[in-house]
Amino acid sequence: MKVGIEQKPLETAEADALIVLVFEGIREERFGAGALFDAKEVEGKSLELTLIHRPVGVAAQRVLLAGAGKPEKFNTAELRRVLAATARHLKPKGIRRIAVALEGHFARADWVTAAVEGVILGDFEPDRYKTENDKKSIESFRVIVAPGSPAGLDDAAEQGRIVAEAQNFTRSLVNEPGNRLTPAKVADAARRMAAEFGLGCEVLEREKMDQLGMGALLGVAQGSAEPPALVVVGYRPVQTRGGGVHLGLVGKGVTFDTGGISIKPADGMEKMKYDMAGGASMLGAMRALAQLKPSIPVTAFIPCVENMPGGRAQRPGDIVTAMSGKTIEVINTDAEGRLILADALTYARRQGCTHLVDAATLTGAIVVALGHLNVGLFASDAALKDRVLAAANAEGERMWPMPLDDDYKEVYLKSAFADLPNVGGRWGGAITAAMFLKEFAENTPWVHLDIAGTAWIDEAKPYTAKGPSGVPVRTLIRLAMDWKN
Ligand code: BES
Ligand code: ZN
Ligand code: ZN
Repeated sequence: MKVGIEQKPLETAEADALIVLVFEGIREERFGAGALFDAKEVEGKSLELTLIHRPVGVAAQRVLLAGAGKPEKFNTAELRRVLAATARHLKPKGIRRIAVALEGHFARADWVTAAVEGVILGDFEPDRYKTENDKKSIESFRVIVAPGSPAGLDDAAEQGRIVAEAQNFTRSLVNEPGNRLTPAKVADAARRMAAEFGLGCEVLEREKMDQLGMGALLGVAQGSAEPPALVVVGYRPVQTRGGGVHLGLVGKGVTFDTGGISIKPADGMEKMKYDMAGGASMLGAMRALAQLKPSIPVTAFIPCVENMPGGRAQRPGDIVTAMSGKTIEVINTDAEGRLILADALTYARRQGCTHLVDAATLTGAIVVALGHLNVGLFASDAALKDRVLAAANAEGERMWPMPLDDDYKEVYLKSAFADLPNVGGRWGGAITAAMFLKEFAENTPWVHLDIAGTAWIDEAKPYTAKGPSGVPVRTLIRLAMDWKN
């Protein structure tokens, strides 16, 4: 999609549809809209959309009145959502060149970025494998601001494009089915992306993992005919500032999770292709960071495996030795995410990461605790936690802090035969999973994001397609961009 800014009176903007925000309690007189307000057909309620043909007094062919809700509740997250809804409303009608008027104080960088993101995110459709050829998408999107608006809005639009395209890149990867996106294919996708945007990329194969002693990761991988891969993608700033900080982004990359020998029920198992959403989020974030160039080095580590049952699969009761040297009793082979992350966290620390953030579709228990609206956030370090929460807040990606008290380990994470069991029993499942990971993050400041409830949208909404959400890509990007020392 082409994206740009135009400084001109909105009356002169040419477009198939010009989007104009309307707020609750604020009457719009222009475009012949007064009568709609009088009839209460338009009230400005959030996500209310009204298309006016041949609007009075403007060059655009249509005006789309976009309900923005109560002015005091309106923010960039709401603008992003409203604009995503407008894109989804217009594109099935074959409308391809659209624009939004950002008037008054909305002609500012943060609003422009959110508007661009909204349209690009709303345009996303997980329809790659639909063969009918009348796929419709938005061709161009322009932001119309009054002459004399602040400078720098072009950069803001460009930033929105980079971030939203990165998020959609993640969503496309997550939507790939297990037969088409194996661990080796994730590695291919990472190499291609890294080459395109000038990032470093290295892929560790089974032999290398063996040498490094990654017994936890290899134990999960051994049940599949598909070889595992540990994908490492690195960004280095031209001038290293940032006081020795090196941010490590670790993402769960289970390309399909059957549960292994502790096999999952058939009902809904097809959704488990999204079990690499954490890893795909890290690749999406790196794709954007390569273009936005933060001032700190950032490296992504994505352990990729397929969790399968079979004659070579690991068994409940198996004891594996992780790269850190700790032994783990595999009580349940379906708790595989923490096993592969354990070795990836150790590897990231050994590679010199000073701060770690992981994202993983780790537990069903986080969905029980928080539903589908908040990411579960676990932190071993208050300062890093605050940075992540601030970034999430600014990006409208909701996250909720969860506990990590030491006694969760003492009470729930005991194995009779090894240092740790890989499951903690019935209660507090998301917390004991996080507690397990903390054993491998050790004393490195670390935040864990359990995205099992938030990485996939079960039902289409006016502002988003069914399928991968791309959470928490925007938070990760902002976390790195805002890191200034
Ligand atoms: N990938 C799943 C987590 C998951 C479950 C995500 C449901 C989305 C929806 C993970 O590997 C898993 O299977 N976790 C188990 C852990 C249990 C065996 C302790 C779970 O949550 O049931
Ligand atoms: Zn599992
Ligand atoms: Zn899993």
